Amino acid sequence: MGEDAGCSENGTLQASASGLSLESRRSFLGVLLGLGSVFVGALLSIPLLRFALFPLLRRTTELKSSPVGAVTEFSSLTEPSMRTIQIELVDGWRKAISEKAVYVTKNAKGDLRVLTSICPHLGCTVPWNKEKNQFICPCHGATFTSDGTRVSGPSQRGMDTLETSVQDGQLMVRFQYFRQLVSDKEVIG
Ligand code: FES
Repeated sequence: MGEDAGCSENGTLQASASGLSLESRRSFLGVLLGLGSVFVGALLSIPLLRFALFPLLRRTTELKSSPVGAVTEFSSLTEPSMRTIQIELVDGWRKAISEKAVYVTKNAKGDLRVLTSICPHLGCTVPWNKEKNQFICPCHGATFTSDGTRVSGPSQRGMDTLETSVQDGQLMVRFQYFRQLVSDKEVIG
């Protein structure tokens, strides 16, 4: 009787021990599965995160160079020539095309330069006056020579030159905006 009781106690102990090891094996596999799911989830979420954050990570506004015309077109330039360029603005996912007027002119050495038509005083569009051989701003009368040098009026500096390059014979320009009412040229966008 005592022996039977010992056997049954022993059997119970063995059963509970195997139950425990089965339980711990199950929980170990559960943890492993959980970790695996987290790892795979993290891996899959990287491209999604990059996609979602792309507009925040890239430069807010990216300006590309725009073609102005073939360099040969300007070889015999005797006065500023107004051109309308198309600029592509990339802001996050958005792309916008806008048109800007620029002047292709020559400096004292005869090198080509491109001026923005925006007056450095308060931003009016400055036309070229053929008769007076000067740029004359219609808003407050600032005047500039054909290469954009300030002559008179309220503007504190000359007309702003834009960054240029030549690609496959095409004159390219990078349009930018500059701070008004200051004597030094300062890019604002
Ligand atoms: S905006 Fe051109 S002179 Fe004032």
